[in-house]
Amino acid sequence: MKGIILAGGTGTRLRPLTQVMNKHLLPVYDRPMIYYPIQTLTEAGITDIMIVSGKGHAGGFLELLQSGAQFGARFSYGVQDAAGGIAQALGLCEDFADGGPVAVILGDNIIFDSIKDAVSDFRRQQRGAKIFLKEVPNPQSFGVAEVHAGKIVGIEEKPKNPKTKLAVIGLYCYDAQVWEMVKTLKPSARGELEITDVNNFYIQQGTMTYEILEGWWGDGGESFESLLQAGTLAAERAKSQK
Ligand code: G1P
Repeated sequence: MKGIILAGGTGTRLRPLTQVMNKHLLPVYDRPMIYYPIQTLTEAGITDIMIVSGKGHAGGFLELLQSGAQFGARFSYGVQDAAGGIAQALGLCEDFADGGPVAVILGDNIIFDSIKDAVSDFRRQQRGAKIFLKEVPNPQSFGVAEVHAGKIVGIEEKPKNPKTKLAVIGLYCYDAQVWEMVKTLKPSARGELEITDVNNFYIQQGTMTYEILEGWWGDGGESFESLLQAGTLAAERAKSQK
């Protein structure tokens, strides 16, 4: 299965840090943020990876990450001409994925759990999608999943009154249906093609499975606090592994 890292967007929540610098290249302890999602994929055995960034930043990614050999991976690069949302960026990867299944991760998501077993489970699942949930104190900042009797019944994108505390993290496994699905999406109120609409399609189809993450998860682009916390925890973790 191929992997996709989505590293577009304008990083408005982290201005002025992101005025010049791309969010995904900001430091999280001793490395650029995007190194964490790269490690999450490669550790799960996904090494053929396309990195999609926005125009004006693509050269920086290429310079930093190069062929991917330093990560034991092979990188391809894509450019999203305008910030049209996560699902729009995903749609640019159809040829790269040969219209097959993919694991998609957002370039600002820092996951300390291994996703290896979950990815193997998804491979065995054959049809549908898999997402990952984490209980958080501030669910209104994320996609929020409603779960009944072990099944996800729906996801709301950044709801004012979240029904649960289960954030949908920025890591998704999709089967080949995703490529036709993204072509049917319409822009949301914020003018973007939403990944939550893709996920709700699979939920309605009854083919969505999920895992709950045990370890720490952070969306490094969500706020200054989350960026700082990611750096602090990454430092503690790196020192404890020495
Ligand atoms: C995106 C998704 C949201 C998800 C989050 C995870 O939000 O739209 O559903 O919970 O990533 O990081 P964004 O951070 O792009 O606003």
